[in-house]
Amino acid sequence: MSSELNIESPARINVADASKHAGELVEIRGWLYNLRKSGKIVFPIIRDGSGLMQCVAVKSNLPEPVFETLKNLTQESSFTIKGTVRAEPRAIGGYELDVADAQLVQRVSEEHPYPITPKDHGIEFLMDHRHLWLRSRRQHAAIRVRHEIVKGIRDYFDSHGFVLVDTPIFTPAACEGSTTLFEVDYFEDEKVYLTQSGQLYNEANAMAFGKVYCFGPTFRAEKSKTRRHLTEFWMVEPEIAFADLEEIKRVAEELILYLISRVLENRKEELKVLERDIAKLEAVHAPFPRMSYDEAVKLLQSRGSEIQWGGDFGNADETLLAQGFESPVIVDRYPAEIKAFYFQPDEQRPELALGVDIIAPDGYGEIVGGGQRIHDLALLEQRLVEHNLPREAFEWYLDIRRFGSVPHGGFGLGVERFVAWVCNLEHVRETIPYPRMLYRTRP
Ligand code: 4AD
Ligand code: MG
Repeated sequence: MSSELNIESPARINVADASKHAGELVEIRGWLYNLRKSGKIVFPIIRDGSGLMQCVAVKSNLPEPVFETLKNLTQESSFTIKGTVRAEPRAIGGYELDVADAQLVQRVSEEHPYPITPKDHGIEFLMDHRHLWLRSRRQHAAIRVRHEIVKGIRDYFDSHGFVLVDTPIFTPAACEGSTTLFEVDYFEDEKVYLTQSGQLYNEANAMAFGKVYCFGPTFRAEKSKTRRHLTEFWMVEPEIAFADLEEIKRVAEELILYLISRVLENRKEELKVLERDIAKLEAVHAPFPRMSYDEAVKLLQSRGSEIQWGGDFGNADETLLAQGFESPVIVDRYPAEIKAFYFQPDEQRPELALGVDIIAPDGYGEIVGGGQRIHDLALLEQRLVEHNLPREAFEWYLDIRRFGSVPHGGFGLGVERFVAWVCNLEHVRETIPYPRMLYRTRP
């Protein structure tokens, strides 16, 4: 319902920009977040996607229908509102709107109210309503931190001489082991797989462009039901020609530090909503602790882990390993046995792969995996045989070792695990708008 008030069309603003409009008459469009009533005054809090703002509607200052409209708003009803912005240090966001007019767009009916209320719903209910849950404050904050991190990743690589070269999602071969492949029916009885990693293509691209990155969704048919696993997740993967393991570690460390500084600079409000202990993020500093796999195993054993040399670190080991460190821990030179086929062996100890994992503090686990690749043709051919990989699907990959082969390497950083750590979230499912997990493919 619109009023008969003659208010000239004021500037349409986002709540986030309220500070630039103090004292001005403005219009805001959004949804009802909350409504408090106190006799002849109602206080609708509007949510416009950029922020929250309390509006103050005084009965005696408004035409009857406008006041009634506001008074009867239900949660998540959509409306537009006009009024004067006023600084109010005690209000959410620091500004309030003195209401002059309002118009309903859609009222949510009492018979079918908005399903998410302040009461405790349980995670399955909330995940079933993910399309609505994204409107809630914590979810909203986490997704905005994700956006900052994604933008930060692109800015970092774009400003350090990397070229974005996208890699395909339908692939003919495995990159990270054939047990976690999603198979897709292609045409004419052909089978393809959803990509586990753009790395193999990245290696070819690095020989064309020197320094490249790809950034997109990757897929793993992992039957893991942990707080760190998704079946569809986003990974950024840089790949650098002529790089050795040390260079790869240096770039990964620099990227992580840059991303944390970006979030601290631009997303403090969101971190506050998430009740993130900011001091812990501020404490992350270079150089990160560095240790070999050998040393990591000894450290774990001294801390009570059952791990034996040759074993892979489980979630509990990763948590234990990172304990007591303020920054992520860089672990390199793993037994080749437990790593993918493409790793360059250590020159002194060929049983070790020149691979590196970076383990985040506080139980967030491995956020980066990468290393130096095999550049010798004969050795790579031998590895394909040892790993039972179909030679014909890798012929093109072998070409990289035939035509000007050079040492090279890269890594993958998993966006969701990184965001989970930065936001201190219990589970990676809250770091991606629509998570895909072992038992969830909806909504
Ligand atoms: O260690 P991963 O498997 O490494 C690779 O895929 C390499 N080919 C990357 C490269 O060198 N270009 O995966 C890299 C990162 C992990 O450290 C983790 O952050 C994330 O991807 N990741 C997952 N995130 C969520 N759910 C899963 N199931 C994940 N699997 C890996
Ligand atoms: Mg890994």
